[in-house]
Order: sequence, then structure tokens, then C-alpha cells
Amino acid sequence: MNRRRFLAASITAAGAACVSPRGFRPAGIGLPAIAGGRTVSLAAVQRIVVEREDPVLGRCRYVADTGAERIARPVFLARQGDRFDAVIENRLPQPTTVHFHGFALSEAQDGAGFDPIPPGASKTLAFRVRNRGGLYWFHPHPHGLTAEQVYSGLVSLVVVVDEDDVALDQAIALAPANRLALAVSDVRVANGVVRPYAPSVEDCHTGWLGNQAIVNGALDARFPVAPGWVRLQLLNACNARGLLLAFRAGDVPVPFSLLGTDGGLLSAPQPLDRVFLHPAERVDLALDARPRRHIEAISLEYDPRLHAPPGPMTMRPHPARARFPTLAAENICGPAGTRRAGEIVPEGERLPLFSLTVEGEHLPPRTLPQRLSSLAEATAPLDAKARRMRLDFSEQRGFLIDNQPYELDEIAFSAARGAHEVWEIRNSPISMPHPMHLHGFAFRVLRRQGTFGPARALATENAGRIATDLGLKDTVTIWPNESAWLAVDFSLPDDPAFRGPQRYMFHCHNLEHEDGMMMQNFAVV
Ligand code: C2O
Ligand code: CU
Ligand code: CU
Repeated sequence: MNRRRFLAASITAAGAACVSPRGFRPAGIGLPAIAGGRTVSLAAVQRIVVEREDPVLGRCRYVADTGAERIARPVFLARQGDRFDAVIENRLPQPTTVHFHGFALSEAQDGAGFDPIPPGASKTLAFRVRNRGGLYWFHPHPHGLTAEQVYSGLVSLVVVVDEDDVALDQAIALAPANRLALAVSDVRVANGVVRPYAPSVEDCHTGWLGNQAIVNGALDARFPVAPGWVRLQLLNACNARGLLLAFRAGDVPVPFSLLGTDGGLLSAPQPLDRVFLHPAERVDLALDARPRRHIEAISLEYDPRLHAPPGPMTMRPHPARARFPTLAAENICGPAGTRRAGEIVPEGERLPLFSLTVEGEHLPPRTLPQRLSSLAEATAPLDAKARRMRLDFSEQRGFLIDNQPYELDEIAFSAARGAHEVWEIRNSPISMPHPMHLHGFAFRVLRRQGTFGPARALATENAGRIATDLGLKDTVTIWPNESAWLAVDFSLPDDPAFRGPQRYMFHCHNLEHEDGMMMQNFAVV
């Protein structure tokens, strides 16, 4: 094979995993046991109800109805190739959508804000799960109301399994209690209750931060595990907070191995002692719980690089927020002002997340397999089209992509179906870290440049990349003054559902920035 064909083949091998209909395998594999909450097979769900659980404080939840039972806040499990056919019923006083974050879906099924479900209405979703095994999730995506709805508890994990995933659990003899899928966010707690969403101008600027972690809906979450390997699939479901995830047994750091990222398993495990996890990013990791009794997951202290001072004019709440009632009856907003003392833990300060208590019989030790999947090294085909994007900040208009605020009816750019592109995304020095998310397509990180010190210190791979850059990604964080190069594969499945031009979105997953118009539509034609 010549070099050009080899490069093209290797990106197809990586990209194909999430978009190619040939990626399907017979759904003969079983669903794993996932601890930490109730699980339900995505294929068995007939109806998902989006409802307020507590109308006073505005806490919300998804309830899955299988016909036989109703399960509140489940973790969904799916095999690669499974179908999902269900009615989404919106019982909120606001429009909503269900966006399957990370899934390769057509525009009609993607659940972006183009086609909201009005209050009291329903919509049918029907699609096939094409993605590799990995941790995915769904959440609301209605214009201007995304941040409030996600904060209120509308976050749902979807664990997809494939043959590599099953083989890994077998190789490390994973105990059933030791596989956890966790959505970690931060909430504002006062007097033991989670306060409703009511952002000030400052919150709209840096993002809505809390003062306590909430994990799969629980404060002070603890999970019992057996002494052996623990496999954690973690989502940063925070509206805005970046986490520098690490583990401690008392004061002693607990090392771990990174197994996978947003789009599934790496080719080989990466030993680490900390990892940045910004909003919407996922990590799959293994830690050895044998020698300890109690393991604490924390976010370590770091410099969050907030380099764009809020002006009096910046980042007002989205106009849609004035058109619909808030989810909470109780209003803590008061005159839009600054945050009160104790209301938040600033970003970059240490924050306890959850803990694992280790009990039971020791399992015989196993070593982690050195090969986890056939994911190829990231490469850019020679014929890839180059595209440049700029993340900007303006005191008048807030955070922007290419100096433009989001326009619902505009298409910022089009990509050809099947095209390979290399994106160069550069963040302004007067900025903050932006976790940039692409709908519909996974991408690979090729290179980083201009990374700031503490993040650069974690860059152990070639081309300035960090360990999480080695996997398939749908969200990538770009620090102020940093540039990142991404290889994007715009292949769409050869399936009638994907016929015709398909619109998708590219946006910052700091949800206050997303609602604040740091977003673009694009089309694949
Ligand atoms: Cu997780 Cu456009 O979203
Ligand atoms: Cu998404
Ligand atoms: Cu942002």
C-alpha cells in the first residue's frame, strides 16, 4: 500500500467505527452489569417521559417506560446495532428536545434545537445505535433553555457495548459491582437542598458553577466495590466546570489507567495520575481497588485560565428564557447581580466528587490487557480540506465563533458528504477554556500548540497531545491562546434516514456559552 492509501485507510478505520453501517455486529453479546443505579436496555424502552420531579425547586428527571415498568433516572444500556424506537413525552412547562450526544444520527433524530417538542407534546424517535462501545448520553437542547434543563437534572447516560468492551471486562475478571457509569455535575446547595437555576450576568459569562458535586442524581455519592479492578465510565455533566480528576486513598494518590474517551476504547491503556475532564467529555478508566479501603474521587486544584473579564454588557440570559416559565416556582434570582459568598466553589478549586468503599473478598490479580481495540493512530489524509475556526471574545457580545453569534436559520459552513477535513481551531488569548463539541461525527486530535503550562505538563504524547487526545472524541477543550488540529470524517451511513442535506451543530459545551450563542449550524451535503 502506498503512503497516501495507507493514510486514507487508517482514518477510515478510525472514523468508520462510528458511522459505517458495516460496523454493525450481530447483537449476540450480553449487556453488562452496571452498578450505581437502575439500568434499562435502550431497545426495551417504549416511552421516555420528561418531567418535573419537584416543581418548587425545579428538579427534573427522565422516566423510562418499558410497558412493564416505569424507571426513574435509569442508566440506559445498548449493544452496537440495537434499535431505539420510543415516544418522548414533554411534561415540562418549556419546550425540550432529546439530543443523543455523541451518536451518529440523522438531523431528524439528532435532537438539536431545530425541532423542539412543545410543552405537553410528544415526538417519536427511531434509529439504530451505530457507535462503538463507550459512554454516551442524552440531554435537552432547546434554544436558550438547555443550561437550565440540564442543570435541573435532565442528563441520562447511555452505555454502548460492543465486542471489545465485553472482552475487556472478561480479561480483567470485572466483578459486577465494579463497573460504574457516572454522570458527575456540580450544583448549588444551601441548607441541604439543591437551589434552582437563576444565573446572574457573571454566571452567564463564566458559566453556572455549584458548590457541591452531584453524581447520578445523588449528593455525597458513595459506591461499594469489591477489591479488584474497578472500571469507571465518567461523564462531566457540569454546566460549566472543568474537572481535573484524580483519586486519593487518604492522602495517597491512586494511579489509574485511561481505557477510553468520548467515542470508546483506546488501542492501549494509558497510565495516569490525573486527567482533565471538561463539560461533555467522557473517560473510561480502570483503577485497582485491592490494596485500599476507601477511595475518594476529587477534582484537583488548577489554574482555570479565566482570561476574559466580564464587562457590564456581556452575556445576558438568552431571550427564550423570558418567553417560558422557569422550571422552579421558587425564585432565588433577585436582581441580577454578583454571586453571593459561599454560593459557589470557584472553578479550579479542589472539589470532592464521590467515593468508593472497598469491601469483600480479594479477587485474584489480573493484568490489564495491552490491546483494548483496533483504533488506529490519528492521521490526516493528504486530500483533507483545511478549515480554520477562531474562538473570540467581545466585551459587547460575549464569546463567539468566528466573530459571529449563533443564528438559528443560518448555515455557517457546509461539508461534503464523505469528505475528510482538518480543522484548526484557535482560541483567543483573551478568553477561557472552551469545550468545543461537534454533533453527529467523532473526530481525532492531531496536534496542539500554545497550550498553557499546567495543561502542557500533561502532554505526554507527540504533537503536544494529552492522553485523552488519543481516542475518538466529540468534545475537545481548547485553552486560551491554544490551537488544536482535528481530523474530521464527514462520512454518513448509506441509509435512507440520512438522505439529503443534514444539518448539525458545532458549539461550546459550557452551557451558558451555548445558550449565549457560542454555536454554529453546519450542513453535510
Ligand atoms: Cu451535548 Cu449540542 O450537545
Ligand atoms: Cu451533541
Ligand atoms: Cu465556552
